[in-house]
Amino acid sequence: MKICVVGGGSTYTPELVDGIARLRATLPVSELALVDPDRRRLDLVGGLARRIFARQGHPGVIRTTSELDEGVDGAAAVLLQLRVGGQAARHVDETLPLDCGCVGQETTGAGGLAKALRTVPVVLRIAERVAALAPDAWIVDFTNPVGIVTRALLDAGHRAVGLCNVAIGFQRRFAAVLGVPPDRVRLGHVGLNHLTWERAVHVDGQDVLPRLLADHAGDIAADLGLPAALIRRLGVVPSYYLRYFYEHDAVVAEQLHAPSRAEQVTAIEEGLLEMYADPALDEKPALLEERGGAYYSEAAVDLVASLAGNRGDVQVVNVRNGGRLPFLPEEAVIEVPARIGSAGPDPLPVDPVEPLYAGLIAHVSAYEELALEAALKGGVDRVADALLAHPLIGQASTADELARRLVAANAAHLPWA
Ligand code: G6P
Ligand code: MN
Repeated sequence: MKICVVGGGSTYTPELVDGIARLRATLPVSELALVDPDRRRLDLVGGLARRIFARQGHPGVIRTTSELDEGVDGAAAVLLQLRVGGQAARHVDETLPLDCGCVGQETTGAGGLAKALRTVPVVLRIAERVAALAPDAWIVDFTNPVGIVTRALLDAGHRAVGLCNVAIGFQRRFAAVLGVPPDRVRLGHVGLNHLTWERAVHVDGQDVLPRLLADHAGDIAADLGLPAALIRRLGVVPSYYLRYFYEHDAVVAEQLHAPSRAEQVTAIEEGLLEMYADPALDEKPALLEERGGAYYSEAAVDLVASLAGNRGDVQVVNVRNGGRLPFLPEEAVIEVPARIGSAGPDPLPVDPVEPLYAGLIAHVSAYEELALEAALKGGVDRVADALLAHPLIGQASTADELARRLVAANAAHLPWA
């Protein structure tokens, strides 16, 4: 099976290559094509990828190319993990909103909108080449903002599934705490990408979340940066992205005095690329754990294996709502457990969602719809509308100012600006 990774020059790629090498019984990959416009990164990452395959005795061929068509041609799955504008654009997403008292984050709030504006047109162009050259391929999108990008792909008629590592991270974490293998842990995960709650943790069919919280609420809350009392009262585990909502002003105050995540990642990446250049390195280095991508290779390998092999197991993915959350439009994209087969993901039924979560989900879902509209059609007014609809912005003067400034700062990446 040929797999193509668009954005293959990412410093994350060795994580994926390591997963493909380790899990070759699950997913037999004969060719891995890494596509990236950046030749230097491609050479460094491709070199390490070949050494990882060799060390683990993996027979697959690794091809590196800057030609999208060559990489995509004949692939069974195309993974999208690109970042339009690189860490420099991310730095703007993470800092500019702070001037208006709003959180600076690459997927949440105004920064996430800027990222959507830059990314959606590029991803849709790539998907058209996939449809032409590998019409049966599944597109697995890790490219953020995953909810909006997946909706764009599905609306354009592509065979796409959105993927994030938040759910698998909780599954692994809870399994370790409970002392059971991860595949026995099933999450009652609900919401939108980067806006989710674990409402149940099933082990062999029994919900152990109440016990987990009784014993470990303090540790879980500390990891999320949220008060333990809040987690205990809610009786659910929000993803760490909920901190940007539940502690918005505190996060802004912190961000004003800290380097941006883009600056931190730039430094980590320099260290990683230097390591990747060492011909003696033939495994993913520990430094890679400082990136946010833990377990993303396992999630990707599992998803592609089930899509290609019709395994029918349950995984958390980004998929069309189709009525599972009755308070959202059918076409909205949600992040929930779904049964994964060769016809694509089929989301499981969802227990009624409490108003405490349903309100925020509906609010952000409406923002996502307007954000996609702005990304597809352009225009400062559409950007301002999306910001006006966002629960973390909402005020007209702030929305107008942020729209104007974000569009100006991203003009080089926006065909319409
Ligand atoms: C998590 C999120 C991803 C995000 C990443 C950022 O993995 O699920 O969507 O891209 O964190 O990690 P970074 O190391 O770039 O801050
Ligand atoms: Mn994610």
